[in-house]
Amino acid sequence: MAPIISIKGLQKTYDDGFTALHGVDLDIEEGEILALLGPNGAGKTTLISAVCGLVTPTGGTVTVGGHDIATSFRAAREMIGLVPQEVAIEPFEKVLNTVRFSRGLFGKKKDEAHLEKVLKSLSLWDKKDNRNTELSGGMKRRVLIAKALSHEPHVLFLDEPTAGVDVNLRKDMWALVRELRAQGVTIILTTHYIEEAEEMADRIGVIDKGRLLLVEEKDKLMKSLGRKELVLELAEAPDALPESLKGYDLELEGDRLTYTFDTTAGSTGVTRLMADLANAGLKFTDLSTRQSSLEDVFLSLVEENQDQKEAAQ
Ligand SMILES: Nc1ncnc2c1ncn2[C@@H]1O[C@H](COP(=O)(O)OP(=O)(O)OP(=O)(O)O)[C@@H](O)[C@H]1O
Ligand SMILES: [Mg+2]
Repeated sequence: MAPIISIKGLQKTYDDGFTALHGVDLDIEEGEILALLGPNGAGKTTLISAVCGLVTPTGGTVTVGGHDIATSFRAAREMIGLVPQEVAIEPFEKVLNTVRFSRGLFGKKKDEAHLEKVLKSLSLWDKKDNRNTELSGGMKRRVLIAKALSHEPHVLFLDEPTAGVDVNLRKDMWALVRELRAQGVTIILTTHYIEEAEEMADRIGVIDKGRLLLVEEKDKLMKSLGRKELVLELAEAPDALPESLKGYDLELEGDRLTYTFDTTAGSTGVTRLMADLANAGLKFTDLSTRQSSLEDVFLSLVEENQDQKEAAQ
């Protein structure tokens, strides 16, 4: 199946000469949830804004549902719902009117039942007659989501949807996103919460300094992360690693010995290592294990990117 969104060589240099996107290639499949991770200033919002037509690309092409955003903007934009990072809603308008107006902007025919369903699914129905200024921050963010869903989009962009949203509501929002996906909506979200990407996404993309560093199925990524570290605090720091332990993936730093092993392998080698440690006369006073995580991958990718940049300069 053709991807619902196809981004090729997308480049954005802002008017001040700053290049926020350096030729990004990304295909998004219909019905998937893609999480974009990246530090502040990585280019996530720029990428989303370019696809949604809020920022004009300086290079590359984007199609949404086969419509080129440069030549068939209206048709492309109609397929998209956007929840922007910044809360921007008409302060004195009432909630229901705000959402109704958004639907109207897309030329969709009136459908009060749809608006009611959307507001209810976001726990906003009891606030429908309140003005937006009368809402809490988290509620305002949910109004943005209601607006984005008002015209029944095929693709939903969520730019940090859960920033400033409390834990319970965050869970509700995840449930809502899953429900939308079940209805066939494709979802692209950015987040700074790695556990949110872990929880929600089918695929994870990591972006830094305007470059997409990785796009991978989450399950595959998590499997490749199936490495664990066993850290042993030794009673005494040995001068060197005994010859009998050379076959293990071990790192010795002072009195700390770290063994890295694969949790998905049939045998972890821990039992054998313990026996060999005892035979070598090494005693330990404490031990702990640590699972590598998406956060480690994310941080090491971003660090590597930093190092490469510095080396190139
Ligand atoms: N209008 C603009 N003019 C010049 N530079 C801009 C403009 N908008 C964004 N930038 C720059 O582009 C880079 C990417 O910004 P962007 O907002 O896309 O980052 P982000 O990944 O969304 O970050 P965050 O996680 O903080 O939201 C930043 O260095 C930013 O300063
Ligand atoms: Mg942003």
